[in-house]
Formats: sequence, structure tokens, C-alpha cells
Amino acid sequence: MQKILVVDDVELNRELLRDMLEEDYIVEVAEDGEQAIHNLSENHAETAAILLDLQMPKMDGLAVIDEMKRRGWMPRIPVLVISGEYAIEVENHCFELGVSDFIHKPFESSIVRNRIRNTMELFSRRNQLERKIEEQAEALREQEEIIRIQAEKLREERSFNRLMMEYRSAIREVETKLQVLNEEFSQEYNRNPFESIKSRLKTPNSIFEKLRRKGFPLTLEAIRENLCDVAGVRVICSFPDDIYRLAGLLTEQDDIILLQAKDYIQNPKPNGYRSLHYILDVPIFLSHEKKYMHVEVQFRTIAMDFWASLEHKLRYKKNWERADADEIVAQLKCCADSIEDLDYQMQTIRDEIDKCS
Ligand code: GTP
Ligand code: MG
Repeated sequence: MQKILVVDDVELNRELLRDMLEEDYIVEVAEDGEQAIHNLSENHAETAAILLDLQMPKMDGLAVIDEMKRRGWMPRIPVLVISGEYAIEVENHCFELGVSDFIHKPFESSIVRNRIRNTMELFSRRNQLERKIEEQAEALREQEEIIRIQAEKLREERSFNRLMMEYRSAIREVETKLQVLNEEFSQEYNRNPFESIKSRLKTPNSIFEKLRRKGFPLTLEAIRENLCDVAGVRVICSFPDDIYRLAGLLTEQDDIILLQAKDYIQNPKPNGYRSLHYILDVPIFLSHEKKYMHVEVQFRTIAMDFWASLEHKLRYKKNWERADADEIVAQLKCCADSIEDLDYQMQTIRDEIDKCS
């Protein structure tokens, strides 16, 4: 049976409540606030509810609530105030303090029993829910800790460093191929198909974060097989047609395998993002073997690149007001469309100039 503490300075009230409740609960009584706190200091863990009078000598009901709050018992033990006090302000004040219910004297046996039962059920359900959430949060924390330790181990492994070296080599292969094409163009046609190349190796943290987000194990095989953007090369061209010419020349080379192409220039993303993305398999030549590595190559114009870096900043700002964010998104979309016009206008002007020379 669950334990209920009845706190009232009038003996008749205590006995009335005891009679009503003792069939279903273990009933303990206190004659004033001090006795109640003394009882709770020893029994708060087993006490399932408190019926609390407001006006009592030594320590009144409100002081008991204060003390229970101070000791952190309020969230776990429901307090039902029993009082002859009818002032609405008093009743409201009690609710503000966290009291669960208010039972007016004189008591009606079935009402008192029902209210106590309902309140206790509500509390027990809420406490169960909180316990479950806390258990889940704890499990999640443990899981994160395990992943952190796994990531730490992997990062220290020599084979991880070797894999990163292989990706770096693949980046170099692609850069070299592009540089060769650029130099050839500059000799033959007196112009460069690209303005600059930016390459990057994904950081270990970002690699582990992506594996985790996609539900892959933290292993070297999982990186190799499932992540296509550990090695990333970004090629910044002056004009849109250079992008396709260069991308074509690169993938026509007989040692390059085109695994996937996403043309966000022909099919821009809804936010206005435009770039040509290729996932390539690129061979690297090591002392004892030839190995194919995934490399992500993004081709875009200078203006598209300028746009993408600005838009990228927006993604990392979390504390936008919704309306401000919507406004910025709309402005960026508008800029992206203007950039497209501008890129093609400049390309037409270049063609005119070429015709004249
Ligand atoms: P990720 O898991 O982010 O790599 O995306 P994905 O595998 O679906 O590939 P996708 O080809 O769509 O994007 C690859 C990369 O292109 C991203 O990691 C970004 O660097 C870049 N990118 C794609 N979409 C956007 C965009 O809307 N804005 C910006 N600034 N960059 C983008
Ligand atoms: Mg990516």
C-alpha cells in the first residue's frame, strides 16, 4: 500500500481523513508543519501524497510548501491542500506554488478519495515518463561516448593516417590533370578554362560525424565505401561553358571513372544553388599497387562560388528569427538568379570579343 501523510492541527480532521483513506493507503499524520517536515525528512522517498492544511500553529501550510521546494521534494510528491479557506487568491497562490489540488472542508469522502487517486496517478505517470526520458538520454550519452572513443581510436590508428594520405594523393592526381589541361589551353587558345582550384580533405571529426549521421560504423571500410567527399576538389571557372568543357575533358580521360554526376546548373536547388558535382574514381599509384579513390569534384563559376560561400554561412547561423531567415533565403534566391543572368551575359560578351579578334 502507498503512504499518505495527513497534516492538520485539528484532531477531528485528521481522524476523518484517516477513516476515509486507511482502507486503501497507509495513513501517517502530523499535527503541524514542523512535524510534517520531520516526518518527510525520514519518509519522503516512500510518501505518495500529502494532504496539507493551511492554517496551523508553529509552521503553516505555505511554509511547509516552501520548505518542500527548498529540499527538492515538490516535483515528486503531490500536495493536495485541504482548507476551509475560500478566498480565490489563496487558492491561486497555492497553485502557483506548485500545489496539485485544493480540497475544501467539509470533506466529502468519495470526492477526497477520487481526487487523491487521480492526482497520484498523474504524478506517477509523469514520474515514469521523466524516468524513461532520463534513461534514454543516459543511453544516448553512453552511445555518444562510445562513438567518441571509437573515433579517437580510429584517428590514432596508422591505417587511418594512411587512408588520408591516399585521399590526399587522389586530390593531387585530379589537380595535376586539371593543371595540365589549363596549361594546354593557355598555350593553344591563349586562355584559361579555370580561374582557381580549392582542394580540401574532410577533417576526421567531420568524417566521423557523417558516418554517424548516416548510420555507418566507424571503420576505415565504411569511410572508403560510403563517403564520396573525403577528398574534395572545387574548380572555379570564369564562364559556364568552361565548366562543361573542362568536366568533359577530365572524365574522358581513360583512367578516370565517373561514378555520379549531379548537375545543379541545369537543375538548380530550390535555394538557387548552382554547381556541377561529379563523384569520380581516381587511380593513385603506390609502391605495390594501383588503387581507385573516390573524389568529389565541384565545378562552378566565380559568381556561383561567391554566392555559395555566403549561403553556406546562413546554414551555420542557428539563432535566426524565422522571419529574418525567410527574408535572407528569398534575397539569396534572387541573387542566385541574377548571377545566372550575369554569367551568361558575360559569356556572350566574351564570344563577341572572341569573334572580333
Ligand atoms: P552532402 O551529404 O552534404 O555531401 O550532400 P549530398 O551527398 O547530397 O551531395 P550534394 O552533391 O548535394 O552536395 C555536396 C556538397 O555540395 C555539399 O557538401 C556542399 O559542400 C555543397 N552543396 C550542396 N548543396 C549546397 C547548397 O545548397 N549550398 C551550398 N552553399 N553548398 C551546397
Ligand atoms: Mg559533401
